[in-house]
Amino acid sequence: MDVLIPADAIQERVRNLAEEIRESFPPGAPITVIGVLTGSIIFLTDLIRQLNLPLRIGLIQASSYRGQATVPGKLYIHDEMLPDVRGRHLLLLDDILDTGQTLTRVVDHLRECGAVSVRTCVLLRKIGRQSVPFEPDFCGFPIPDKFVVGYGLDFNDDYRHLPFIGILPDDTNV
Ligand code: XMP
Repeated sequence: MDVLIPADAIQERVRNLAEEIRESFPPGAPITVIGVLTGSIIFLTDLIRQLNLPLRIGLIQASSYRGQATVPGKLYIHDEMLPDVRGRHLLLLDDILDTGQTLTRVVDHLRECGAVSVRTCVLLRKIGRQSVPFEPDFCGFPIPDKFVVGYGLDFNDDYRHLPFIGILPDDTNV
């Protein structure tokens, strides 16, 4: 598999992102970091340990990709693992911004749940794929329009554990 972003480059960028994010919150703000399952879990666990802020953690599930399919379908939001976000400043994390549909929907949902503010951070942003206007507050790396795996991202639930971002070979049955 071709490595698009090596592990050490990810770790360095996560440290820098954490600094940018920390500086963006008012001192003493009640912060909850929300990870979009399942792709954001590795990003979330690395980032929160660099944030150096008192915070709570929450999880939400949103999936538009079912199984092996790479064409977005209906979006499902499950918020059973979401803590009470009323009165909280949220930092919403996702692995990748592709069309923008997922984060647009999840941000709307979190606002409806009573969050004071919702900042968004994506590790990756695919260039030339967005179908809805959405601007993340923080972004790790812009990437080309390739199907990528590793560091939380999967193909059919495999490869999430890889410490780097790799490009799935063309002959994989995507
Ligand atoms: P949208 O289109 O809503 O999609 O911005 C975001 C979600 O799509 C998935 N996605 C990918 N997953 N490799 C993956 O493993 C990719 O290249 C890829 N592109 C999009 C991902 O679940 C993300 O949260």
